[in-house]
Amino acid sequence: MLYEGKAKQVFATDDPEVLLVYYKDDATAFNGLKKGTITGKGAINNRVTNHMMQILEKEGVPTHFVKELSDRETLVKKVQIVPLEVIIRNISAGSFAKRYGVEEGIVFDEPTIEFSYKNDDLGDPLINAYHALALKLATAEEIETIKKLAFKTNEVMKAFFKARKVDLVDFKLEFGRLRDGTIVLADEISPDTCRFWDSDSHEKLDKDRFRRDLGNVEDAYTEMLKRIIG
Ligand code: TMP
Repeated sequence: MLYEGKAKQVFATDDPEVLLVYYKDDATAFNGLKKGTITGKGAINNRVTNHMMQILEKEGVPTHFVKELSDRETLVKKVQIVPLEVIIRNISAGSFAKRYGVEEGIVFDEPTIEFSYKNDDLGDPLINAYHALALKLATAEEIETIKKLAFKTNEVMKAFFKARKVDLVDFKLEFGRLRDGTIVLADEISPDTCRFWDSDSHEKLDKDRFRRDLGNVEDAYTEMLKRIIG
């Protein structure tokens, strides 16, 4: 094992350019302050992430995905993670609603993008592109590529989820650099990292059920798996 995060473990393989990711059922919120388990989450997030990565790859977004090995294990290309959490929002919710003092559920005319500095000790503070450059977290060219790929990902995912009666409220992406410097989409795309609302009932079908103690957490993850994979 090379690294253990809050929701996944990363292992080396025989191929120095390929890593194995193992998805856990552990769930945290508020920078690890709240801890719990969502039974079956690891297997669902593994399958959902791989499904979305393959769709995005076909639509021209390069990703780190290589091969699903089992329920919870996937091979991915080794990358150096760019320490930015890239957040796209289509509808107001979460920290946006709180920070700007607006209700949740306002549909934006255009999607927004923001970055957080991926640093647990600092609590992943909000950061702008100039700060990211000053801190040498990425180059100007890399930030441009990341923005372009993040908005493209949003367009593909919004349409995909709309067809499944789900509103894509917001989501968090992480990008990495391959050995040759190419920027690819990495990490995961799952109910842990996206807000999904049922298009008709507006019921929350994501990790907010855990964050906010809304109950039926496992049911929400299972429902999203069903809608995505069928
Ligand atoms: P926020 O409204 O709390 O800033 O969250 C925006 C989106 O980012 C939401 O879909 C959940 C996701 N997210 C993560 O994936 N990891 C995190 O650590 C946080 C805070 C949010």
